[in-house]
Amino acid sequence: MSTHKTSAEFDRASLVQADLAHFVHPQTDLAAHADTGPLVIARGDGVFVEDIDGNRYLEGMAGLWCTGLGFSEPRLVEAARRQLEILPYYQSFAGRGHEAGIRLADELAAIAPAGLRHVFFASSGSEANDSAIKFAWYYWAAQGAPQRTTILARRRAYHGVTIGSASLTGLPMMHGGFNVPRPFARHLTAPHFVAEGREGESEEAFSARLAGELEETIESLGAASIAAFIAEPVIGAGGVILPPKGYFAAIQPILKRHGILFIVDEVITGLGRLGTMWGSESHDLAPDMLTCAKMLTSAYQPLSAVMLSSDVHTAIVSESGRRKGFGHGFTYSAHPVAAAVAREVLAIYRERDIIGHVGRVAPGFQRLLQQAGQHPGVREARGQGLIGGLEMREPANAARLQSAAQAEGLFVRAVGGDVLAICPPLIITEAEITELFERLGRAMAFLG
Ligand SMILES: Cc1ncc(COP(=O)(O)O)c(C=O)c1O
Repeated sequence: MSTHKTSAEFDRASLVQADLAHFVHPQTDLAAHADTGPLVIARGDGVFVEDIDGNRYLEGMAGLWCTGLGFSEPRLVEAARRQLEILPYYQSFAGRGHEAGIRLADELAAIAPAGLRHVFFASSGSEANDSAIKFAWYYWAAQGAPQRTTILARRRAYHGVTIGSASLTGLPMMHGGFNVPRPFARHLTAPHFVAEGREGESEEAFSARLAGELEETIESLGAASIAAFIAEPVIGAGGVILPPKGYFAAIQPILKRHGILFIVDEVITGLGRLGTMWGSESHDLAPDMLTCAKMLTSAYQPLSAVMLSSDVHTAIVSESGRRKGFGHGFTYSAHPVAAAVAREVLAIYRERDIIGHVGRVAPGFQRLLQQAGQHPGVREARGQGLIGGLEMREPANAARLQSAAQAEGLFVRAVGGDVLAICPPLIITEAEITELFERLGRAMAFLG
């Protein structure tokens, strides 16, 4: 644990006062926060974090599904420091660039799912998905079909909170009061067998029904109005929902047949979460665009990427040529410090075989998850790789269990209204996985 500042050295009262007076917390019940006040985290160590009162927590969510390499990887600190010294910032507008960004694009293209050879950088998952939406529209403009603007998404999906990505997100809490979704977004049934499957329906038949819904939607809207379909390989924030058997195998040929672009949102699943480098690998997906963020830098720096197929890239280049410019990009696109950290992440993955490690510890994680799921208060335990969810019979128990776990020194998170999500750093050891589920087991005592 870093010794920079001891708990006694934090002025707790003034931190709380300043927080309540000035800090607007994202994704927080802001009215309730005025009463509860902040939980202030002081430092991190491997898979643990410690608050300013000295309480230590096993970070069973890797922050927000993102610190793949834990909270104290010195190589990432050093990579950032080195880049800050050499070139702390440079832009990539108007053909300029820098070594960190260019090398990272090359390295990502080398490990991307087949055919995705071109990389656009942004800073967050939301920006990456917004960029993918705009690239889909630009692509269709290049094809002489600018009226293809509808983007199909699913209920319970989470794609972010900017106006574009929030429109694709399928969670009412992200819409209410915010004038989203915008009309270009169209939501299909959540691929959630336990919640949406009908009496007597098999998982395969459920998938076939959802594929039928997709066909009908395309028919009723007209393929000539649809730009793209977006999906997470495994839904995260909507409730850790694995695709039902045969779902993507049924969906993908329909998209292909109608020329609808397939955007795969790997903001959570990318970089090893499911035990493969990409969720697209483990779910046999052939994206036209893939977005990733979070574990790309282990969240030590904000960075996201959109990877493009040659087909999409060629269209974008030609449209840009016609318009004598490409009117999209961010000040921080390919930020050199973030890019340097991402390159170091990829180097660590290679040298320490992080994907192999996930493959070795994930079966134990999933076994203990299933054991926790035996509790009568749990409707279903489900997961893949190092992500898991416990769907509670009584939805409110997800939030209660989150609080009870925190009291046991474990951060896990209630998501999707009724699911407790677990998504630890990828570097978690077998012993730490055991400890995680021991703490969770103690927290579950209140369920009876
Ligand atoms: C699948 C998915 N897509 C997009 C996002 C949005 O990312 P950000 O919060 O970096 O904008 C998230 C965030 O959790 C996510 O889980």
